[in-house]
Amino acid sequence: MSPYDESSSAVSSTADGEDRAVEAALRPKDLDEFIGQERVREQLSLVLQAARHRAATPDHVLLSGPPGLGKTTLSMIIAAEMGAPIRITSGPAIQHAGDLAAILSSLTEGEVLFLDEIHRMSRPAEEMLYMAMEDFRVDVIVGKGPGATAIPLELPPFTLVGATTRAGLLPPPLRDRFGFTGHMEFYAPVELERVIHRSARLLDVSIDTAGAAEIAGRSRGTPRIANRLLRRVRDFAQVRHDGEITKEIAAAALGVYEVDERGLDRLDRAVLHALLKLFGGGPVGLSTLAVAVGEESETVEEVAEPFLVREGLLARTPRGRIATAAAWQHLGLTPPTAPPHASLPAQQDLFGGSPEG
Ligand SMILES: Nc1ncnc2c1ncn2[C@@H]1O[C@H](COP(=O)(O)OP(=O)(O)OP(=O)(O)O)[C@@H](O)[C@H]1O
Ligand SMILES: [Mg+2]
Repeated sequence: MSPYDESSSAVSSTADGEDRAVEAALRPKDLDEFIGQERVREQLSLVLQAARHRAATPDHVLLSGPPGLGKTTLSMIIAAEMGAPIRITSGPAIQHAGDLAAILSSLTEGEVLFLDEIHRMSRPAEEMLYMAMEDFRVDVIVGKGPGATAIPLELPPFTLVGATTRAGLLPPPLRDRFGFTGHMEFYAPVELERVIHRSARLLDVSIDTAGAAEIAGRSRGTPRIANRLLRRVRDFAQVRHDGEITKEIAAAALGVYEVDERGLDRLDRAVLHALLKLFGGGPVGLSTLAVAVGEESETVEEVAEPFLVREGLLARTPRGRIATAAAWQHLGLTPPTAPPHASLPAQQDLFGGSPEG
């Protein structure tokens, strides 16, 4: 089997070039248009209304959650709701404190500074950000060595919106300086149906209720994936049919792209298949499982497993990976009457090694 290329999977949650090109057109423009995330939306709406009421700049906002759930979209909505301009940059783009100083010192009053992947900023930049967030001030260092002097610079009040897929990686002093943290959750299928109907309208695609439900169910709780699958189904409907998306057409199209009814792709299914057919449902060590599907352990662990675990199809145990009853059911296989891992001693005991190694 050829090595799995995540970027070629129709259900990868990170944005590819085509995604980026159409995402701008599909982004909701205000909080009312933003679908789902009721809790974050309500909290954020209070923060913004209160700020407007006081004619003040809203507190700094941290948005955390997996890729494709709407963090960038929300940051733009915050600026739009405040009628403020937005400056967009990212942690990896700010390698020197000087880069950040240049951005901060050019902000206008009330401006929203969106810092994507904030967990990937360099240490010195991060420390400069602490002071900027708290006191709206930075120290610009002029000169080098013993003659260097710090020139304090006042900043206009601004709102920092930080986004991260890894809130756990943020140093506590940085996390604590945000007045509000919004935790983004995966979307329910009915919410994704609404996302799909909305996008279909914007893309001028005709789709019925069952067609949207079919795509939503395969979108892994993620609007970015829902929008991408919608485009692939649209292509199929236009090339092979009259352009109208129904349940049958959606299912046939996503079959072509190897995305199954629950949103599993080729790698996900290969992992489950090996676990069930070769290892009787486990437990089996990660590296053994990876060899069986012809992939690197990291690919299996970081790309396939999180979704399989979230779906309740696979579990990680100290003795290795095991399949759940739902996994047997999903692949249409019958579990052995006495599961092997119930009667056999653990793999560790047989081989005297860790199944994780
Ligand atoms: N609540 C929503 N309603 C409608 N569309 C949404 C919603 N959330 C996200 N989308 C759509 O999903 C796409 C991806 O959203 P966005 O770029 O904001 O995700 P992100 O969380 O910033 O992802 P990343 O972590 O990769 O930067 C956008 O095109 C946007 O239109
Ligand atoms: Mg983003």
